[in-house]
Amino acid sequence: DDLDENYGVKGSKILVRIDINSPIDPRTGRILDDTRIRAHAKTIRELSERGAAVVLISHQGRPGEPDFTSLEPHSKVLSDRLGMTVKFVDDVIGPAARQAIKELKPGEILLLDNTRLVSEEIIEATPEKHAGSIFVQRLAPLFNYYINDAFATAHRSQPSIVGFPMLLPSAAGRVLERELHALSKLYKPEERPRVFVLGGGKVHDTLRILEYLHANRAADRILATGLVAELFMVAKGINIGRKNIEVLEAKGILALVPRARRLLLRGLPLETPVDFVTEHNGEVRVEAVGTGIEGVIRDIGPQTISMYSEMMKEARLIVLRGPAGVIEDPRFRKGTEELVKSAAESNAYVIIGGGHLNVIASNLGLADKENMHLSTGGGALLLFLAGEDLPGLTALAKSARKFFPQLS
Ligand code: 3PG
Repeated sequence: DDLDENYGVKGSKILVRIDINSPIDPRTGRILDDTRIRAHAKTIRELSERGAAVVLISHQGRPGEPDFTSLEPHSKVLSDRLGMTVKFVDDVIGPAARQAIKELKPGEILLLDNTRLVSEEIIEATPEKHAGSIFVQRLAPLFNYYINDAFATAHRSQPSIVGFPMLLPSAAGRVLERELHALSKLYKPEERPRVFVLGGGKVHDTLRILEYLHANRAADRILATGLVAELFMVAKGINIGRKNIEVLEAKGILALVPRARRLLLRGLPLETPVDFVTEHNGEVRVEAVGTGIEGVIRDIGPQTISMYSEMMKEARLIVLRGPAGVIEDPRFRKGTEELVKSAAESNAYVIIGGGHLNVIASNLGLADKENMHLSTGGGALLLFLAGEDLPGLTALAKSARKFFPQLS
């Protein structure tokens, strides 16, 4: 709205950074969850209806990972959810992309390919440095404005997030606006105790987040699940069995043990599971922690579910991020479902951080409960809640001081 009132968006060309990084089936390339794609529909429709030519950019996965793919399938899903044509070009900053941008007419929508096809996009640097990157220098002259709607990537200081706001009048999109509004309503510093339930696969990221949460005393209790729990159990000297150690080793997680141990020594209030659902020679069983675990860990066990659910009862704010087990397989979904249910039934405000957990909450019919906020963000959300500055938001604020001095 500020952009429209101050400059007018009709007839302009706008670069919109969205985050449609979605879970992908590695065998078929199918998009498994369209939550993030649907979330951006409002921003895109509104800009198109106000008469702007809308060019969308997003990343998907990381080079080397199985979910690092082209965005062509995303353009089809987006067209379908918007009920509007979304053109696609399999290029980001080359001649084909620049030509397609130049030819785009008011009201039309174009999605460029995965931003991480450009190697500069995985470098973390300052907004000023990224403003001089080839990525930003090639595209910025083709646009009048930049909009950041990618709340979920606001913790990355990458060119598509922090570079463009230095050169173009910029604004927040509707997703970013909605997230900040909801979080500021839900997140009252005096609301304690705060319980964080953390699992999922991004263990390196989660460890960094735990360091911030602890440094800022932002969490009163952390209930660890999944690989995060396994890391901390090793750090505590608990025997999780040879097979699970091998999994941690293969994923480069064992190297994190000294950092995890340091956090525990400094008093990080982190709980680990007391039992697991494991798989051993094709057989599924529950194994208690203590005597050494034989099978491969797939989910938290019933004792852990009731212990964690009990611990959530006293909370005023509960934040959940990452599944507790291998939820792609229905046999290992129970732990995650039960934790989401317990959180929803508590008296706390509940913030769900992204992806898989949003799908579980929706499938359980809990998404619209008044005490729940389903965020599009994962790592970005947690860093925000830990009180850290998010580079994406800082860059927008800098841009506003430069291009909207009358508002600052
Ligand atoms: C996320 O899913 O957390 C965001 O899309 C950021 O992705 P990244 O962790 O690969 O940078």
